[in-house]
Amino acid sequence: MKYNIAWVHGDGIGPEISKAALKILDTLREKRALDLKISFYHAGDHCKSSFGVPLPDATIDGIRQADATVKEPVGESAADVIVRLRRMLDLYANIRPAKNYEKHPYFNDIDLIIVRENTEDLYSGIEFDIDSGAVALRIITEKASLRIAEVAAKLALSRRRKVTIVHKANVMKKTCGLFAKTVKEKLAEYPELTVDEMYVDAASMALIRRPESFDIIATTNLFGDILSDEAAQVAGGLGMAASANIGTSMAIFEPVHGSAPDIAGKEIANPYSMILSCKMMLDWLHSRNGDRRLSEAAQDIEQACIRGLQMNVKTPDIGGELKTQQVAEKLCDLISETA
Ligand code: NAI
Ligand code: MG
Repeated sequence: MKYNIAWVHGDGIGPEISKAALKILDTLREKRALDLKISFYHAGDHCKSSFGVPLPDATIDGIRQADATVKEPVGESAADVIVRLRRMLDLYANIRPAKNYEKHPYFNDIDLIIVRENTEDLYSGIEFDIDSGAVALRIITEKASLRIAEVAAKLALSRRRKVTIVHKANVMKKTCGLFAKTVKEKLAEYPELTVDEMYVDAASMALIRRPESFDIIATTNLFGDILSDEAAQVAGGLGMAASANIGTSMAIFEPVHGSAPDIAGKEIANPYSMILSCKMMLDWLHSRNGDRRLSEAAQDIEQACIRGLQMNVKTPDIGGELKTQQVAEKLCDLISETA
């Protein structure tokens, strides 16, 4: 079966980590006889300066027509690109795993997933000036909270069966109150699950103190954005963090991090985040059509990453000395040489 992948070029380190991830997909194409047809599009700051818009219609159409999309990080136009795409395409769940692929120096194994509501909250984009300041509207609906609860429950059932609802309902009584109540009621329909809740400030502390105690965290958009960078760093660094934006039939896979302008062009960007985003894409495509080659290819990526890290196949951000493309080449060798 053929899979049409839209690949969106962005800004900063985007092209460097893409080049690395595309090498991995080439190797998998050969090894697993995967028929991936990749079409390239553009979005972000570079697009705005070249074409006047950060998110051209051709890119939106390409994403709509594809079976799945991989997106590079973009720069300052992130709100006009990814935040807009999430809302426009109703990619309502943002799945952000934080897992230590190497033995952690301080903790037992960390293996948690942040399930972040992806379309509303303070990221609804409704902001305006008033006489003496500015106002942003925080929108929380029962519908979006229910959908997040369902995604969190399904994921938890396939894992350690624990969900922590993170909110701040003691202060934001209406908005967080609605989110917490809706998610709790939905999760109560799954007696196999252990459910607890935490205020976001306490959760941010607990993520550093005992990250291994979390399984699934279900939370609102802004809190999920912040906690997922924190969880990524605790588990192994932003350069390792992949994510998925999932809707009912469409999905965009991207690193958690941004365009990292401070290291762009230096060939030291960590490509694992992009490579693991491709792994998430292969797993998602597999969950939709059951093609075994897709899950085998996803496994190939994960195994190569684990072995690569053991063999010090690393960029400087995680203590290595290799360049971005050297990491990719070594991971390709590891994929090719295993059955
Ligand atoms: P950032 O995530 O780009 O960088 C934070 C720090 O992590 C920097 O020191 C950077 O060098 C490092 N880092 C990130 N990814 C790395 C990698 N793969 N390898 C090694 N080091 C890595 O966050 P920052 O600096 O706040 O934002 C930069 C730009 O990215 C901004 O313009 C922002 O709007 C945009 N952004 C875009 C996102 C998206 O496209 N989804 C998400 C987050 C930020
Ligand atoms: Mg973020």
